[in-house]
Amino acid sequence: MAAYDTILVEARGAVGLITLNRPKALNALSDQLMTELGRALDGFEADDAIGAIVVTGSDKAFAAGADIKEAAGFTFIGAHKANFITAKWERLAACRKPTIAAVAGYALGGGCELAMMADFILAADTAQFALPEVTIGTIPGAGGTQRLTRLVGKSKAMEMVLSARRMDAVEAERAGLVSRVIPAAELVDEAVRVGERIAALSRPIVMMAKDAVNAAYETTLAEGVKVERRIFYATFATEDQKEGMTAFAEKRHADWKNR
Ligand code: CAA
Repeated sequence: MAAYDTILVEARGAVGLITLNRPKALNALSDQLMTELGRALDGFEADDAIGAIVVTGSDKAFAAGADIKEAAGFTFIGAHKANFITAKWERLAACRKPTIAAVAGYALGGGCELAMMADFILAADTAQFALPEVTIGTIPGAGGTQRLTRLVGKSKAMEMVLSARRMDAVEAERAGLVSRVIPAAELVDEAVRVGERIAALSRPIVMMAKDAVNAAYETTLAEGVKVERRIFYATFATEDQKEGMTAFAEKRHADWKNR
């Protein structure tokens, strides 16, 4: 594996595990960290042995946001020229393989936004989510105003964006921001277990399922249902669909060929 300074990268079976690792800065998402994260994601996406990716942080912080010290001196034209945030940060959202954010502790600002770029969030009971950018004179810039609003609705998103109020794990689950709350000590193992379950399925079928759910965020209901139907029909062109249904009828486990 390539060497990284700000993240830890390992394969746990068929699951790629990326741990954000800038403990002294509560995993603030510096340019270097986001570059390294992008490289690690590229590596796992290209690795046929990997079927799902988990991104996590420390017990104290998933990530406390963009690196404020780095961003403090930015100018409009500098941010514009560098395509600040968008270009590198959207890498997680662009992953074709399934991604899970395993969040313990602070997920603030860009940390919350990064977690929302994963396919789903598993939260430790210690997790705290907030978009506190207004308190430092800016607004969420990595998709927060859009993704949070789609996930929890306008009222809660507005309150969080305008007042910087923190949401704990229980509220986050109730609001639909996270799929489940897990005791902190079990968070990463559980996320890897879920990743293994996904990775053990047919890779192309799982990717098709992911594409279909994502269409719900980008289209109308009528168009989304059409997208789903087209993808559904496309599954019947795969060997894995034949294998999956034959295995069910023969009362045995499917032997996926990923084609
Ligand atoms: N950027 C840079 N450094 C950060 C940081 C950040 N986002 N968050 C924490 N740190 C650093 C602190 O400066 C501190 O470093 P020093 O020891 O060198 O002073 C170290 O991490 C530990 O932090 P604290 O001493 O503040 O720890 P705490 O336990 O007292 O407080 C906290 C924790 C409440 C998370 C607090 O650190 C905090 O409020 N952090 C900033 C949260 C924030 O505003 N995030 C939004 C960033 S902007 C953004 O993300 C834009 C976007 O949309 C992409």
